[in-house]
Amino acid sequence: MPTSIARQTERQLGGSRSVLVRQQRDHQELDRLVHAIDASTGRERLELLEDLARLVFPHAFAEESVLWPVIRRVMPEGPELTLQVEQEHQEINELWSQLERTTPGDGRHEELWPRIVALLREDVRDEEDEMLPRLQERVGRRELVRMGLMWEAVRRIAPTRPHPVVARRPPGNAVAALPLTVLDRSRDALDRTSRRREGRVSRVAGRLSSVAAGLAGRLEHVPPMTVGEDPSTRAGRTGRG
Ligand SMILES: [Fe+2]
Repeated sequence: MPTSIARQTERQLGGSRSVLVRQQRDHQELDRLVHAIDASTGRERLELLEDLARLVFPHAFAEESVLWPVIRRVMPEGPELTLQVEQEHQEINELWSQLERTTPGDGRHEELWPRIVALLREDVRDEEDEMLPRLQERVGRRELVRMGLMWEAVRRIAPTRPHPVVARRPPGNAVAALPLTVLDRSRDALDRTSRRREGRVSRVAGRLSSVAAGLAGRLEHVPPMTVGEDPSTRAGRTGRG
């Protein structure tokens, strides 16, 4: 059984630029944000949820578009392991899309949130204990750094919101990246304005954000963006029991 990357030092993982260290750092930040969200209410909770979305969705998007294709190539068990993680990502995308339509305190929010947290934790365990240590056994430090740089470059410009209809694999997700990133990041700014300002400015920002959400929802269904998917990760039918 390979050693989990959670129990290895930065040096063992290939140094600060290695994809393994970058993953470990994001997973630790995810854990911090989940605890902070659990302890918060109202506007503070919404702001922290947005911080978490801006961490996990670009993180997963970049995994699916640049890391998992490499893992499928270099590891015999790659197709099986990456599919399992893609199914977890798909479920998180679907549940988070529902969460976006709730308000803290309305009951549905409190029902969805623990389910999302459980899936996020399962996803981290699958990556840190199974997939990434096996990758570490197969590739050298230089390749880990190369994958780290590639992943970081995509992560910085990836969509920041859930998109359950878009393919979890290239070419669909690669085509979707730019337009959805622009819409998501505009919505992040508009939602922040809507939360922090009052009166007309807040209302207009809220309405514009809804328009961008509608546009993103329609765009997701455009055929090139749904191509490449494994049938088990299509929207509405995650293959898990
Ligand atoms: Fe990850």
